[in-house]
Amino acid sequence: MCGIIGYLGGREATPILMESLKRLEYRGYDSAGVAVLELPRAGEAVRTSVTKSEAKVDTLIAKLKMNMPSGNLGIGHTRWATHGKPTYVNAHPHTDCKGKIFVVHNGIIENFAELKAELEAAGHEFPSDTDTEVVPHLIEANYKGDFLAAVRAALKRIKGAYALAMFSSDDPELLVGARLNAPLVVGIGDNEYYIASDITAIIPYTKRVLVLGEGEVAAVTPLGAEVSTLDGVTVNPKIVHVDWDVSQAQKGGYPHFMLKEINETPEALANAMRGRLTDDGTVSFREFDVADKQLRRIDDILLLGMGTSRHAAMIGEYVIEDWSGIPARAEDASEFRYRRPTVGEKTLGVVISQSGETADTLVAMQQAKARGALSVAVTNVVASSAARDADGAIYLHAGPEIGVASTKTLHAHIVSLYLLAMRLADVKGRVSPERKRELVEALRLPVALEGALKLKEISYIHAEGTSGGELKHGPIALLDDQFPVIAICTAGTTKDKMVSNVHEIVARNAPVLALITKGDRSLNGVATDVFEIPEVDEAAAVVLNTVVLQLFAYHVAVKLGQDVDQPRNLAKSVTVE
Ligand code: G6P
Repeated sequence: MCGIIGYLGGREATPILMESLKRLEYRGYDSAGVAVLELPRAGEAVRTSVTKSEAKVDTLIAKLKMNMPSGNLGIGHTRWATHGKPTYVNAHPHTDCKGKIFVVHNGIIENFAELKAELEAAGHEFPSDTDTEVVPHLIEANYKGDFLAAVRAALKRIKGAYALAMFSSDDPELLVGARLNAPLVVGIGDNEYYIASDITAIIPYTKRVLVLGEGEVAAVTPLGAEVSTLDGVTVNPKIVHVDWDVSQAQKGGYPHFMLKEINETPEALANAMRGRLTDDGTVSFREFDVADKQLRRIDDILLLGMGTSRHAAMIGEYVIEDWSGIPARAEDASEFRYRRPTVGEKTLGVVISQSGETADTLVAMQQAKARGALSVAVTNVVASSAARDADGAIYLHAGPEIGVASTKTLHAHIVSLYLLAMRLADVKGRVSPERKRELVEALRLPVALEGALKLKEISYIHAEGTSGGELKHGPIALLDDQFPVIAICTAGTTKDKMVSNVHEIVARNAPVLALITKGDRSLNGVATDVFEIPEVDEAAAVVLNTVVLQLFAYHVAVKLGQDVDQPRNLAKSVTVE
């Protein structure tokens, strides 16, 4: 996600913010900004200098060098857009009506629309489209002379995820950090302090780090850092010594981005659902806010994608059709564009693209649109070409993915498509339990295909994915003791069929690693090895099984000494046809 840096100490803040933002660039971002509390000249009041760039950190640095703010307290941010396009106005820091309170934020504020309406009714003005901007205004609304108390009162009203660094020009020696469902650390130097979303930002300055817990607030002054809960109860800070170099810190201590990103799956799933699903199961998408009446007209769903995104499309196809009863088809976008497909005004084109820039996918969408289809882009990148070209967008909010092989964003895509399926099922007035058996069979196939793709991509071992039913129609001819098979045998209506398949595979001497539901003994003594996943709903098992296959591919590639994060001949985003 975005990157945060804050500084309070005896040195000039601006150069430190500039250097730290450079180190945060690797996370991916679209705009950047800093706010520095300037040292008042004789007879002048304290003022805050804000500098922003709607482009790269280097542009921001060039602006700062031309007009260097001088002060010992400041905050900086690299923004990865979630709410609102990557523009100058939407770049952080954000401020209140009086321009006294300055805030940078990572995460998503779920109830920002409701808070914004309430604050607007009380006269607050919001120049940006961001969710972040409610924070300084909410603090302002709660301010009665004690900044920290106002921060606590404001944060109690906020739902969702936040890592925040903030200050007020009324308290020139106080830097405040707070977090909930998003990481934030306080770096402790010699009479100087840092607040950062990521240890990478501060590693050259200090190795002593105070790790904030969920719902905790750090009040940093020249005397030290005090941690407390939102209720004001003091917390004993947990201080750790970090021994990473910059490259290790960028990977969060993992040896590769791919492994780090697989491990970020739980957070990616939570972010994909955040603010979209109510307790009664109602789904809404802010940037794809289509009236029920319009959606009810849809009688055909076309899902387009390439690579891993095509596998997500295949999962979407089965789930959308099963849950909503609307015929759905997943298409290879590069082939679709050379056909004369039946697409019309009652078609919903769902474009699936992590980057939102894959050339074949974009062209296919344009063709569907030209034939009158309503379109929605399911993408990780706000204001990407896919998001701009489509009628609406469902953003993954998974944070940047650096490993070339997609991992966490596949899971975010799957969950987003489940939500879309629920939304469509809702307007069509049906959530069908029918065709469950076909659905389960169908869901396993993209998982197998994706497992095979990951292995090919990063270990360069040929692999193929097949359904259990297809096995006897060809792939079984390949089997011998040199041809290992991974069988997805987790609980579901086709499990028994899969168990029979495993017997057939073992009879051909092929070693079998079976993915089974915890406690299942039906393959004991049959499969060469088993990997247990917890007992979960079949829709969730799709994600868990994929995680296992991603990890399998990862470890095979590492054992073979391959370049896991940047496999040969592959690109993260294929922007040519
Ligand atoms: C490339 C990447 C894959 C990705 C595919 C589609 O092949 O290496 O990881 O799945 O493009 O990318 P998109 O950004 O459209 O999801």
